[in-house]
Amino acid sequence: MGLILGSVLLYKSIPNPSTTENSSPKAFSDEPLLNNLPESAKKTLLIYGRELIINTAAYLGPNGSIASISNGMNCGNCHLEAGTRSNANAYIKVAATYPKFKPRSGRVESVTFRVNDCLQRSLNGQILDTLSMEMMAIVAYIKWTAGISRPDHGEIHPGTPELPVLARAASVINGKDVFRTNCVVCHGNNGQGQLLPGATGYKYPPLWGDKSYNVSAGMYRLSKLAGFVKYNMPYTEKQGAPMLTDEQAWDVAAFVNSQPRGNKRFGSDWPEMAAKPYDYPFGPYADAYSEERHKYGPYGDIKKK
Ligand code: HEC
Ligand code: HEC
Repeated sequence: MGLILGSVLLYKSIPNPSTTENSSPKAFSDEPLLNNLPESAKKTLLIYGRELIINTAAYLGPNGSIASISNGMNCGNCHLEAGTRSNANAYIKVAATYPKFKPRSGRVESVTFRVNDCLQRSLNGQILDTLSMEMMAIVAYIKWTAGISRPDHGEIHPGTPELPVLARAASVINGKDVFRTNCVVCHGNNGQGQLLPGATGYKYPPLWGDKSYNVSAGMYRLSKLAGFVKYNMPYTEKQGAPMLTDEQAWDVAAFVNSQPRGNKRFGSDWPEMAAKPYDYPFGPYADAYSEERHKYGPYGDIKKK
């Protein structure tokens, strides 16, 4: 165990790949692509970066071997298949599009900044020093995915697809039924997920509570959660045709995001009020609609403005 935040880069100090089972069972692996690269310090760094993405908890979770700065989830729980799966927040456009201006922060963001955003919000945790080995490795790996092609997939779509909005508000009550039928078996009755033996991470990640993403995460916006769930849940190894209808996806998203979770807020978010997305659940707003209406919809009128 060595705390290397802010330390000088020493490639030989990269830990051996963890032997723990990871929570991301998958049909496709980019691992061979990495392993086939010629031996170099860069390759070692990339392999470590991939490890940190799919086994974040083992290194940076509550019992992490490097530091305890996150909630026990893995980056790969939402960036499926180490950020290479289509419609599952794939990283493939990051190298080409960053640094870029983002309205949430109101500034030009680097990849490092964006990684720390997900650490503080999606992993309800703390930032990594920008000069740490771990940050270098994560950023190197994320950029490297730009060159990936997936014969099993066709074109990889980055980000999460946005579903057409419903004419009605998303229903927490209907969503509870969808949850019971389609999600409980893995994510648990109380959305608490299921830990791996040894508690180094989750087999099934939590959907709410302190151990899940907090209210400042992208997933706390209904459109992001509904789109992710529609295309990726219930989880299957091969990404097949969606199993839920759009209505079921919106409703289950409403149920999940109606449950309690970490309340960390960032006062500097969305400095320009009018730039807030239609489903951003915290006012003040440039329009007259309530927080409740922005959170659950109906969104039609709000989107038109
Ligand atoms: C709870 C789900 C979740 C977890 C866990 C998570 N992220 Fe994210 N991440 C997202 C979502 C959703 C987005 C897209 C947000 C948006 O569209 O604005 C995103 C966006 C990103 C982006 C920007 C991608 C782009 O194309 O602009 C990077 C980089 C990133 N995450 C890195 C990470 C890293 C590294 C970790 C682990 C330390 C992590 N994320 C953990 C949900 C998550
Ligand atoms: C067969 C088991 C299974 C079922 C059923 C399932 N999930 Fe998941 N879910 C997973 C796994 C496994 C992951 C993490 C995938 C990874 O790390 O590669 C995940 C990740 C997630 C995530 C992102 C990480 C997080 O914890 O926030 C969300 C959100 C999610 N599931 C929601 C749902 C919803 C909603 C349903 C029901 C419609 C559902 N899941 C059904 C296994 C399942």
